[in-house]
Amino acid sequence: MGYTSSPEAQRIEPLPYGEKYFPHHNKYLDFWRASVEDPIKFWDERARELVWYRTWDKVLDDSNPPFYRWFVGGETNINLNALDRWMGTHVANKVAYYWEGEDGTSRVLSYRDLFREVNKLARALQDLGVKPGDTVTIYMPMIPELPIAMLAVTRVGGIHSVVFSGFSPSALADRIVDAKSRVLITADGYWRKGKVVELKKGADEGVSLAEKQGAKVEKVVVVRRLGNPVNWVEGRDVWYHELTSKYPDTTYVKPVPRKSDDVLFILYTSGTTGKPKGVMHSVGGYMVYVYNVFKWNWDIRPEDVHWTMADVGWITGHTYIVYGPLLNGATEVMYEGAIDYPQPDRPWQIVEKYGVTIFYTSPTALRTLRQYGDEWVRKHDLSTLRILGTVGEPINPDVWRWYFELIGKMRCPIVDTWWMTETGAAMISPAPGISLVTLKPGSATFPLPGIVADVVDENGNPTPPGVRGYLIIKKPWPGMMLGVWGDPERYVKTYWSRFPGYFYAGDYAVKDEEGYFWLLGRADEVLKVAGHRIGTTEMEDVLIKHPAVAEAAVIGAPDPVKGEVPVAAVVLKAGYQPDEQLRKELIELIRTQIGPIATPKTVLFVRKLPKTRSGKIMRRLLKNIMEDRPLGDTTTLEDPTAVEELVKAWEEFKAQMK
Ligand code: PRX
Repeated sequence: MGYTSSPEAQRIEPLPYGEKYFPHHNKYLDFWRASVEDPIKFWDERARELVWYRTWDKVLDDSNPPFYRWFVGGETNINLNALDRWMGTHVANKVAYYWEGEDGTSRVLSYRDLFREVNKLARALQDLGVKPGDTVTIYMPMIPELPIAMLAVTRVGGIHSVVFSGFSPSALADRIVDAKSRVLITADGYWRKGKVVELKKGADEGVSLAEKQGAKVEKVVVVRRLGNPVNWVEGRDVWYHELTSKYPDTTYVKPVPRKSDDVLFILYTSGTTGKPKGVMHSVGGYMVYVYNVFKWNWDIRPEDVHWTMADVGWITGHTYIVYGPLLNGATEVMYEGAIDYPQPDRPWQIVEKYGVTIFYTSPTALRTLRQYGDEWVRKHDLSTLRILGTVGEPINPDVWRWYFELIGKMRCPIVDTWWMTETGAAMISPAPGISLVTLKPGSATFPLPGIVADVVDENGNPTPPGVRGYLIIKKPWPGMMLGVWGDPERYVKTYWSRFPGYFYAGDYAVKDEEGYFWLLGRADEVLKVAGHRIGTTEMEDVLIKHPAVAEAAVIGAPDPVKGEVPVAAVVLKAGYQPDEQLRKELIELIRTQIGPIATPKTVLFVRKLPKTRSGKIMRRLLKNIMEDRPLGDTTTLEDPTAVEELVKAWEEFKAQMK
């Protein structure tokens, strides 16, 4: 993974994108400087490119930090800019989504089609009693009804909470309870690697678990994707097609005016405590930020076909499959299934089929595709591609080069975008839409306009070039989260307390001599498994619920494809013996309680966990073992045999794997 500064860091001079704006990079730097010197003027101008019901009184209210509020007094609805604004223009007849099912079926939706569907569903939601400010949970696969549902909810002034369809029923239940949703939108099932996933079954289980915790789900709207048999609760469940077919195509629901600092959506993400937090994004700030960053990242042009190969259930999908493209009137590809099904050339076949010009995915996806061999790529004409992007985890320089050389044929810049659920859209990344800097494989380059970032040591002092530190964001930006749903203190504590006055990202980073940012992965107890964010505490909480488990520690072990994978170290209660059966049970427990993405690689049974004398688990030490690094300082260790045992268990596991 690591970072490199010269000489390893090859410098790539990309094509001069953005030359129409800034023929010289120095001009871009002037633009960036002006944006951060007078952010009020800068964002005021950017926000005026969008449609509002009422213009703001104040661009930024910073009177109550860290609860910054953007475009205060402004009123709008994201539908106005994502859909309504395009009606009556040529964009109405343009493709909004090329949808590709895993089974080879496809659908094409124009902006007009989308507008109609959203209006019909919006009316239906109103009839079901959804009011402005209500939360609606969405548990759906990658089908066009997912963005339609999100837009319909926001159209009527509701707040959506999308739960990734790969999450387990109990993860769904926790999120329904926390968001207090009375309405759930889901589907009967979907395809995954050629198999039917019975989503409705999971949704039913999730709802009943939620109701045991006091939630009341009054309506479950079900999209028929597959026609597989489903259980039906009369009076509660309604078919999406029956609900919407009642209304004519001319149905129009006025987008409900919302305050700029109202909540647009909630998206749960993992942190360092057991409970996932509901990251809230705002109506106005998120909209302005996403609209601009999408444009800057992709130099988006009318003829582009943009494809974010990710799931809408994560922030990448919210911003780069739904809101970013629609706010820009762009054409997006949406793919339902597994990236290597039925064959490892599926993505390249899709690029060829739709003439994709901009392709955005995760390093894990690239590593997966690369391992199948280059011949799968060479079979396809990828000449339409002009920009490539990555997101979600650090990209290894060798994978970067593979992407640049084989996929992009050395013509396409690689836009490595660093950001998080909390930031709304990319924060540190190249911006071919404005002006492109020289690229270095593995570096996300520089902060975007309006963004001031830095790397600091434990005490908050900037680190010298080449020295690792913590990434901070020093000034508010419109895409910043509003807070944590139902828990303002957690917002302050998690993000604003470590380095008072600054937003703490939780990432390690380093700046090189030329000021390039290199993002080095999480500095806290959060794992990035195949680019997905999972909290180790969440997994530990699940494990200790098992009657045999006394203590558990989950650590990330390096993995050549997924970046890292969870490994659990478990101490059993007296009377329990470690065996294969128990190991499988514990692994299965995590799968069913959180979801398949969190599946541990193994469970190591030990009699003790390495702890300090004050009883704190020494995670750094555990991590060093997993990464085959020297143990480091062990003087505070309470009992050295605990480490020996763990090293032995890990070595045995690795030997078995060979
Ligand atoms: O560790 C960073 C990593 O992903 C984390 C945020 O995860 P999540 O909220 O799930 O959002 C992922 C998609 C935006 C960050 O704290 N990360 C994201 N992008 C990069 C990255 N690490 C290195 N390079 C990136 N480009």
